[in-house]
Amino acid sequence: MLKGKKIVLGVTGSIAAYKSAHLVRLLVKQDAQVRVVMTAAAEGFISPLTLSTLSGTRVQSELVREEVWNNHVRLGRWADLLLIAPASANTLSKMAAGVCDNLLTAVFLSSSCPVVFAPAMDEDMWLHSAVQSNVRLLGSRGNYILPVGEGELASGLVGEGRMAEPEEILEWLEHYFSAAGRPLEGRTALVTAGPTHEPLDPVRFLGNRSSGRMGISVAEALVSAGATVRLVLGPTHLGTRAPGIAVTRVETAKEMRDACMENAANTDILVMAAAVADYRPGSVSPEKIRKSSGPLRLELEKTPDILAEMGREKRPGQILVGFSLETDHETDNALRKLREKNLDLIVLNSLKEAGAGFGGTTNKVTIFGKEGSETRYPLKSKSAVAADIVKAIIDLYHVREAS
Ligand code: C5P
Repeated sequence: MLKGKKIVLGVTGSIAAYKSAHLVRLLVKQDAQVRVVMTAAAEGFISPLTLSTLSGTRVQSELVREEVWNNHVRLGRWADLLLIAPASANTLSKMAAGVCDNLLTAVFLSSSCPVVFAPAMDEDMWLHSAVQSNVRLLGSRGNYILPVGEGELASGLVGEGRMAEPEEILEWLEHYFSAAGRPLEGRTALVTAGPTHEPLDPVRFLGNRSSGRMGISVAEALVSAGATVRLVLGPTHLGTRAPGIAVTRVETAKEMRDACMENAANTDILVMAAAVADYRPGSVSPEKIRKSSGPLRLELEKTPDILAEMGREKRPGQILVGFSLETDHETDNALRKLREKNLDLIVLNSLKEAGAGFGGTTNKVTIFGKEGSETRYPLKSKSAVAADIVKAIIDLYHVREAS
């Protein structure tokens, strides 16, 4: 199951680093491709030569080696999965804070693949509120944290904090890469994200403040669950590097609609997260509109409602998910859209909630299902919200399969 999987193994300074040799051996035996990145502290616990020999490639540990920049971006993009085992309290705290002071922390920040942590430390450290809050923070951003074991610790004490055994880590990875870990394997998805820009003249447009982050996170979460994804992305400085996502960049609602309709009929899952302009200028001036002494009146016309069109043309078995960004009568409006646009799920975010909605990195949503389900979620990072949305989609498939 791990055959050909590209795994970057990060080894940090913990006595459990001696188990990394066995872990590399198990991964290589499964025909995974393993590249090892060590921190300086790890080299005190296990020799790089051991891990180079077992992995079949030279261990990397420096950002700059013999005046040559070590390309952490390439390594981050190469990986199907970044596994940090053992993950020391120190590295967990750096990664939670976004510190970048060695090759491993740089690879972490530039990777777009799933990240799995196998923490290892003494019990007192593990239970410290600082470590626990870092672990929670990393988990809330969509990283996976493997449970620590209980037993003898390096200090001689007995308690919690042992790194998961290499066999357990291998089992987790096999599950992750198996059909059970990738429940949307073989499914296709189409996601819209970002704003649209509706031109007024060659230099001006009507737009909105959407960053596209929520939809991009949904596309990435769908890929992690095994789906093949097309992302139709409005004008935003954000993008995605996740392998398995084909990106079509568009400007206007009309272009977004056309890109969607080209692909929608053959797609299993449609998630419309874009903040599409509802109106556009009735005519676009071919020349820059000149200032004049009087007021300027604009006549606006409706743009195509992509979600509504998809609802009308929905094929049996297709799952259609819409978003609803509301400032008043949130639930009523969301439920009306769910019904009128023939959706299976609608994700409501209220602009009244602190930390929810446009621009930021967090969101607070409620997901309504057409069968009457309603699930409220706490404030989370957009990638964790995306994982909840994908989970709701997977649950829908389970319900359909069972009925
Ligand atoms: O009705 P309202 O515009 O609030 O619905 C929001 C939902 O509809 C979002 O999922 C958004 O992506 C989608 N939408 C669309 N095309 C439009 C307007 C909204 O697909 N022209």
